[in-house]
Amino acid sequence: MDELQELERIRREGLERLAEANDAASLEAWRVAYLGRNAPVMQVFSRLGQAPKELRPQIGQSANAVKQALEAAYQEKLEAVRRAALEEELTRQKLDVTLPGRRPFLGRHHIETQTMREILRIFTSMGFQVYSSPDIETDEYNFTYLNIPPHHPARDMWDTFYLTTPGLLLRTHTSPGQIHAMRQFAPEPVRVVLPGMCYRYEQAGARKDIQFTQVELLAVGYDITFADLKGTLQDFADRIFGERLRTRLRPSYFPFTEPSAEMDVECVICNGKGCSVCKGSGWLEIMGCGLVHPVVLQHGGYDPAKFTGFAAGMGPGRIAMLRHAIQDIRSLYENDVRFLEQF
Ligand code: DAH
Repeated sequence: MDELQELERIRREGLERLAEANDAASLEAWRVAYLGRNAPVMQVFSRLGQAPKELRPQIGQSANAVKQALEAAYQEKLEAVRRAALEEELTRQKLDVTLPGRRPFLGRHHIETQTMREILRIFTSMGFQVYSSPDIETDEYNFTYLNIPPHHPARDMWDTFYLTTPGLLLRTHTSPGQIHAMRQFAPEPVRVVLPGMCYRYEQAGARKDIQFTQVELLAVGYDITFADLKGTLQDFADRIFGERLRTRLRPSYFPFTEPSAEMDVECVICNGKGCSVCKGSGWLEIMGCGLVHPVVLQHGGYDPAKFTGFAAGMGPGRIAMLRHAIQDIRSLYENDVRFLEQF
């Protein structure tokens, strides 16, 4: 038979069959039959060598044209079938607007951040302004200006992470911020509350970790007395614990305060009876405090003959533990959502 007529027949038959294929499976069967390796149009190509030489170019061209026409028709039909399937699905699946939405997971502030904010809120309401100072400190700010000269045994109270750059360290407490604040405000009176991360090179335990936040309090002015300190801290304790817990001030020692004290609150875990958290004492220390040492005032730029002041330092982690009866301070930093989402 004339190959050109045969090609025309293939084209017509192919298109007719394609019109009948209306789903993915029959389309695929059509593709194998009309465009696959053994499809009639492919056989025309294989027979090309047997055709008379002068007819070969024309047969070749027509065969290509038929193949392309079939391919184009196939692509178009494939698209049409897909679109029809999608439309069918969309009309079948009605949107149920009464279906409750999926509740998004709402984040929240970490319990220590919540406690920190509460502490800052209380002190700012008393007229202290929030002040920030660096995590990386010089030896002078962390120790010397706070009346702890090099080689002084009191340095043993703060096991320190030193940086590889000589003279620099990770602050072991927020107290160096006192010096920064005083130097910024002297000779004007100053009242600051100073939050921040502190670092200590020591064994982690149920009540302490190598990294923790502190809040420092500092007031410098005329005629500030120990009574001002005690009143401020008692008011703070009443507000942060809701007047539920007993507190006491106990004489203590810090190089940067004189006199120095520690404030304890009754242990919430055992209600003051004595347990492993309070080491049997019934009390938990929540902060160190005292009247600012004259040497520290001097380093801050104040004349100790004219100015006095008080300072205190506390750990919001500890305070969060007390308010929520948390047994192990490390749970604050393990990032276990089952623990954190309770607050
Ligand atoms: N800096 C002390 C510490 O980390 C805490 C402290 C005690 C801060 C007494 C003070 C203070 O401001 O007056 O152990």
